[in-house]
Amino acid sequence: MNMERILKERRSIRKFKAEKISDSTINELIEAARLAPSGSNKQPVRYVIVKSDEMIKELGECTSVPFVSKAPLVLVCCVDKKTYKLSNASKIDEIDFSKLSEQEKAVIEYNKKRSEWDDSTLMAYLYLNAGISLEHVVLKAVDLGLGSCWIRLFDVVKVKRMLKLEDRYEVVALLPVGYPDEEPIARPRIDLEEVILKTL
Ligand SMILES: Cc1cc2nc3c(=O)[nH]c(=O)nc-3n(C[C@H](O)[C@H](O)[C@H](O)COP(=O)(O)O)c2cc1C
Repeated sequence: MNMERILKERRSIRKFKAEKISDSTINELIEAARLAPSGSNKQPVRYVIVKSDEMIKELGECTSVPFVSKAPLVLVCCVDKKTYKLSNASKIDEIDFSKLSEQEKAVIEYNKKRSEWDDSTLMAYLYLNAGISLEHVVLKAVDLGLGSCWIRLFDVVKVKRMLKLEDRYEVVALLPVGYPDEEPIARPRIDLEEVILKTL
């Protein structure tokens, strides 16, 4: 499908056919995520693939959104909080900056600054990366004839416990995916003029 059609035809899909999604198709979705850009190419986004009926039902109990438990597949988008933590931050002070190019110096300074970010700044950055990655999946799903819907309304603690995730992972969103069993009309969007804040 061409890009214009994908962008125009994508909808949040909340009703799915029972048909299961093949492993090769699931891999194509995850491949779209893998190709997403990320800050300093650190690639902090991870997915839990939930395809067993039993686990999907359990996930459904972690959210008040009713259709999650009826999807044939749920992708759980997570971020690894350790990605942007420098393991060798203390060693930065030992680097001989006089031997580095201006660009190398800037990268090291930026990485050092980032390793000192407070938790909320770090989380905002991780969420930014997750958003890009997951939207790649959403658009690839349309390309493959699938529908999906971003879900943010869920109990993070319950989901983490249910999936037995280590502390380093934070759950950002659930993405129920399936073959659409509805054709929602396009939801309204603001005008182009409103999107453009100013042209300088
Ligand atoms: C970050 C984000 C969170 C969302 N969370 C939910 C959600 O918890 N439940 C839900 O039914 N839809 C959710 N949606 C879907 C939006 O309601 C939907 O994208 C919006 O109404 C526009 O409709 P469209 O996607 O069909 O164009 C979410 C979308 C985004 C981008």
